[in-house]
Amino acid sequence: MALTFGEIMEESVTALCCALCGEGLGAAQGSQGGAVLDLGSGEGRLLQAALEAYPFDVAHGIEIMSLRHQRALLRSCVVESKMRLQLADFRKLPWWHTPDLRVVFCVANLFDEDLMEEVHVGLGRCQAGVFLVLIGNKLCSGGGLLELRQMPIRTSWGDDWARIYHRYDSPLTEMD
Ligand SMILES: C[S@@+](CC[C@H](N)C(=O)[O-])C[C@H]1O[C@@H](n2cnc3c(N)ncnc32)[C@H](O)[C@@H]1O
Repeated sequence: MALTFGEIMEESVTALCCALCGEGLGAAQGSQGGAVLDLGSGEGRLLQAALEAYPFDVAHGIEIMSLRHQRALLRSCVVESKMRLQLADFRKLPWWHTPDLRVVFCVANLFDEDLMEEVHVGLGRCQAGVFLVLIGNKLCSGGGLLELRQMPIRTSWGDDWARIYHRYDSPLTEMD
């Protein structure tokens, strides 16, 4: 049986971007929108909704499944030139070095413990000030990561929760 991945509804992405603004996204950086990154970007719908909700300068997506990546590419070339999509396993990319990274989204309802650990370690390597929006899973605060709030959201698999975390400490190095 094929594994079916779900998606977060557009209105919930908008609500999450509003919540991020309430937590200080945009407050310190003047008019520049910075970068948003989706770990496991699927067909690119979350990034499109994020670009419509907030003036990010660029939206990066990393997706491991070729078909989903190709669909995202087709969609992005029609409607959105700010998208930078890669077909890759995010465990093999230093995504924490994404220039001017402000927000990382991760729809992790089907992620196992090892994959969650990859997300946690990667966030530890991000610059202080980066937000993580984690959907359908959770991380413990610690290692420079603070949970700010939880929000109910709507997804294609039903109601779920998003958690917003903030990177408040200086980044870990690759050696840590
Ligand atoms: C639930 S879907 C979310 C899709 C997208 N974020 C959205 O909300 O529209 C999770 C995605 O993560 C991708 N994924 C899982 N493990 C991955 C990995 N190690 N590297 C890159 N993508 C991965 C899956 O192929 C799937 O497309």
